[in-house]
Amino acid sequence: MADEKTTGTEVSEAQIAVHWKEEEYYEPPVSFIAQANMTDEDVLERFGEQNFPNCFKEYADMLDWYEYWHTLLDESNPPFWKWFVGGKLNACYNCVDRHLPKYKNKAALHFVPEPEGEPILHMTYQELYRRVNEFAALLKDFCGLKRGDTVTLHMPMILELPIVMLACARIGVIHSQVFSGFSGKACADRIVDAKSKVLITADAYYRGGNLIDHKEKADIAVAEAEKDGQHVEKVLIWQRYPGKYSAKTPLVEGRDFIVNDILPRYYHQIVEPERMNAEDTLFLMYTSGTTGKPKGAQHSTGGYMAYVTGTSKWIQDIHPEDVYWCMADIGWITGHSYIVYGPLALAASSVIFEGVPTHPDAGRPWRVAEELDVNIFHTSPTAIRALRRVGPDEPAKYNYSFKHMTTVGEPIEPEVWRWYYNVVGKKKAVIVDTWWQTETGGFLCSTIPALHKMKPGSAGPGVPGIYPEILDDNGDPLPRGSNKAGNIVIRNPWPGRMLTIWGDDERFLNQYYARYNKDRNSKDWHDWPYFAGDGAVEAPDGYFRILGRIDDVINVAGHRLGTKELESASLLVPEVAEAAVVPVPDPIKGHRPHVFVSLKPGIQPDPAIQQKVSDTLAKEIGPIAKPGKVWIVPDMPKTRSGKIMRRVLAAIAAGKDPGDVTTLANPQVVDEIKKQA
Ligand code: PRX
Repeated sequence: MADEKTTGTEVSEAQIAVHWKEEEYYEPPVSFIAQANMTDEDVLERFGEQNFPNCFKEYADMLDWYEYWHTLLDESNPPFWKWFVGGKLNACYNCVDRHLPKYKNKAALHFVPEPEGEPILHMTYQELYRRVNEFAALLKDFCGLKRGDTVTLHMPMILELPIVMLACARIGVIHSQVFSGFSGKACADRIVDAKSKVLITADAYYRGGNLIDHKEKADIAVAEAEKDGQHVEKVLIWQRYPGKYSAKTPLVEGRDFIVNDILPRYYHQIVEPERMNAEDTLFLMYTSGTTGKPKGAQHSTGGYMAYVTGTSKWIQDIHPEDVYWCMADIGWITGHSYIVYGPLALAASSVIFEGVPTHPDAGRPWRVAEELDVNIFHTSPTAIRALRRVGPDEPAKYNYSFKHMTTVGEPIEPEVWRWYYNVVGKKKAVIVDTWWQTETGGFLCSTIPALHKMKPGSAGPGVPGIYPEILDDNGDPLPRGSNKAGNIVIRNPWPGRMLTIWGDDERFLNQYYARYNKDRNSKDWHDWPYFAGDGAVEAPDGYFRILGRIDDVINVAGHRLGTKELESASLLVPEVAEAAVVPVPDPIKGHRPHVFVSLKPGIQPDPAIQQKVSDTLAKEIGPIAKPGKVWIVPDMPKTRSGKIMRRVLAAIAAGKDPGDVTTLANPQVVDEIKKQA
């Protein structure tokens, strides 16, 4: 089945690629180059393959180590490579303590509440240090958490989220933050997989003008986890308004605790940072894969921290003087790497924005940028498309000035890129289009902003120390620069890559390495290309253009949703017999899922069933999973061996010709489905 679908997607994406014209280059502004962290062309040579893996010493040296590592890369057990072996460090120390002598009175975080009437909160490094320490003391003493334990967070975008993450890191507790937009059930699945006994959440947060009761999700999460055998002992609840409980859902006696009630016991306490081994786990970040169960990307302390610090410095061009705003949610990998760990390791001032970019109007982000004098801005094509559609002339009304802008998470159309450059950046900011994944920890492809020209729609070459290549289905490299579509792989190990999938080494191996590894016994990393699951082309200039996923994963607004996960949720609706989910291009979100369902015998099609499917997906997974359309079909188009032809459904949903369907077992059904288009 996988082959059938893979071919389907590849063909259609490749066809799109054929119609692309080569875009013209944009030069980085001289004003940017004059101040950039990385302007030395020698870096390309230093991080060239001939200097691998020693090049990554430069990234490790951006960190403070309690004990310096003795082995840069342990290659003895591919693909479970270990970086900086023998090294001991603490991520929290690197993000907080080490900045105190120079920057204690400088803002580490700016919290921008969604309601514009509420003041922006500014937290200095000194205050962050205090808050992190007292919460670390609470985690240890009140929750009994210790090094190596896991804890699940289901926190919205509030100031306390990075505080909790850093407190966990300080005491060696592995945090697993679940995106707050995910449902209680989705949170439960992740609690069960991580075996967390403590859940940290918040009572409420603002979204699109409403104060949302978030605590109700905690009750569902705990109850659902219990059903699957995982008992949550304590739920810690932060208050959106300290001292006031803003949720309607009542507290459960003996289980739920308001953090602000407990915290005074730990005021002024200082907790020594744990001396973690470089390869100890820092956090888990769940992401969707080809099977229904979300997988916990298990990220390391030393390799990950070195990688996000290095790429934040050179690709994001973060200096301590910068005001840096990444508009992603910390609940995704982008927020972990490029709101919290990377920027704070460099002593930046990082902005945390609670709300929706277009609320109350599309001028909001630019007002925030003006107010805080943000000079580095980072967001997704989905946000850029939405802001362009609702407020194409808004940026010009505000007096802010970006030196650097990032786009991440999905391919950006050259038209949209140009609006970002001309209107948002006012032709004065450099843009990096960063291609990477939850699993990779940090950027894989991007231009180095002061050294490379920009090309709209292309991510660029591999970043320093990353050697990408395009392979065909047999594992043979396509000719370099041929603009032919194939599967992008990274030929080498790198420090930011996750250690494994939490609790499932076999799945890790199969998902990312089995496809192109020809000899499981080989110790030579050259035999272990990392299979990213994206289609891509490489232009003659060595720039990679990403075409999209080739597996059963739908990229909605820059975030991955597993089709299997959506299909199994649809089957929870009692009337549904069979479900198939396909990605359909969407002008704002990149793609949206369309759900095709066939009904059980005797049940008549009814709009109420469509609504039920849509509601179930929102409830089970979260509003992000809401389908663009639910189709009720008499039967699924199937091959003679009974496999659902998702390619045919995807074509119909996108209003395209499904091609030759004569080989199907039931070709007549295609016409019936088309009538509903
Ligand atoms: O398909 C690629 C797309 O997003 C996928 C990774 O999603 P996730 O793990 O949720 O991480 C998102 C943030 C890093 C990739 O496999 N993708 C990511 N960045 C880009 C992209 N597609 C095109 N261009 C990008 N810059």
